Amino acid sequence: MNRPLRRIAPLLALLFMAASPGEFPDASRLPSRPELPDPLVRLDGQRVTTAEGWTKSRRGELKSLFEHYMYGKAPHPGSLWSIERTDPNSLGGKATTKEVAIGVGPDGGLKIHLLLVVPNRRTGPAPVFLGTNFYGNHTATKDPAVRLSTAWMPDKAPGCKDNRATEAARGLDADVWDIETSIDKGYAIATFYCGDVAPDHPGLADGVFPLFGKPGPNDWGAVAAWAWGLSRAVDYLVSDSDIDRTKIAIVGHSRLGKAAILAGAFDERVALVIPHQAGCGGTAPSRGTVGESAKQINDRFPHWFCGEFKTFNTQTDHLPFDQNGLIALCAPRPVLLTNAIGDQWANPSGQFQALLAADPVYRLLGVEGLGVKEMPATGVLVDTRLGYHIRPGKHSMGREDWQVFRAFADTHFGRPTP
Ligand code: GCU
Repeated sequence: MNRPLRRIAPLLALLFMAASPGEFPDASRLPSRPELPDPLVRLDGQRVTTAEGWTKSRRGELKSLFEHYMYGKAPHPGSLWSIERTDPNSLGGKATTKEVAIGVGPDGGLKIHLLLVVPNRRTGPAPVFLGTNFYGNHTATKDPAVRLSTAWMPDKAPGCKDNRATEAARGLDADVWDIETSIDKGYAIATFYCGDVAPDHPGLADGVFPLFGKPGPNDWGAVAAWAWGLSRAVDYLVSDSDIDRTKIAIVGHSRLGKAAILAGAFDERVALVIPHQAGCGGTAPSRGTVGESAKQINDRFPHWFCGEFKTFNTQTDHLPFDQNGLIALCAPRPVLLTNAIGDQWANPSGQFQALLAADPVYRLLGVEGLGVKEMPATGVLVDTRLGYHIRPGKHSMGREDWQVFRAFADTHFGRPTP
């Protein structure tokens, strides 16, 4: 146990003897912990020292803490799907494209429209990258047959005069998704519009929220809903015989990277996670002093996290966890954090610190965690199970990022790198 934690352990023990089972104290009753909390230290101050202790008790406790204080609790799943269109001859015959409607909610009434593109040249089921997109599936591909999204869209989008629910937006984000190159390299790509699940605006009156009743202060916000949507897509993917169910990688950019790491942390069917420039509320410490703060994110995007998270705005040191704990929940599965020098808002160096502070959980589980102690040079991929990469440039996702995503997946999925 590190020194500050050893000091507060008795205090924590007292506090939680007083809390009734299933209840967590409010922020003002949690002790200040200026350092990143060790994910192996339980709420009662005891440190877990065996893999079994982590898997059987601490992991569940940490998940509940993240739900209660930050992301909110998502309802129990239930999804039904139908394949609405199959084109075995897309990308000039290189791929099969499927459009799948995944019905979610109590009566399956809300549809997540999943676009799945699978390589035709392969010797078995394909590994897959799954991710949510910002502006509809039709923006991720130039394929004219892909359904135009009819869900709510934000009015302003880069490169677009109006919102993107139009034919004019078809293929505008083709470089963001780089589908054809992944197909050439043997990977399938699956994506859906985040707004199918939770439109990205405050109010929580649309999408999946009304189906489950008005969210309370500890119920899900949009990030948790997007992560939940990713898990519903996984429900489908594990049932599709074209997909290798042991090789489902989740990727997401920025706010959707926050959803990616949450989905990976909570859903063990996810084999590998790549939160790209996920920053505050994702892979950067809430206690961080570089880039976006918890207060800034909560003020500007009040619908992303649960109500309770706002109570930590000016006292993040009272959070009983930090984002290193969310990364640790993915252990022993590979996680790659990718960043850009010009995106200090996402706190790239703080994210590296989060990896270092997640590493003890990987070691406890008997696997290599982060293979380096210092941030790598620009452009150098650390491809150990906890991986890191930083490139020049800005806040964006594109073809050069996909080269890194695929190189990391090649390593951990045991695929030859061409
Ligand atoms: C804003 C926000 C970030 C978020 C980003 C994005 O910059 O402050 O937290 O990651 O939008 O989603 O692009």
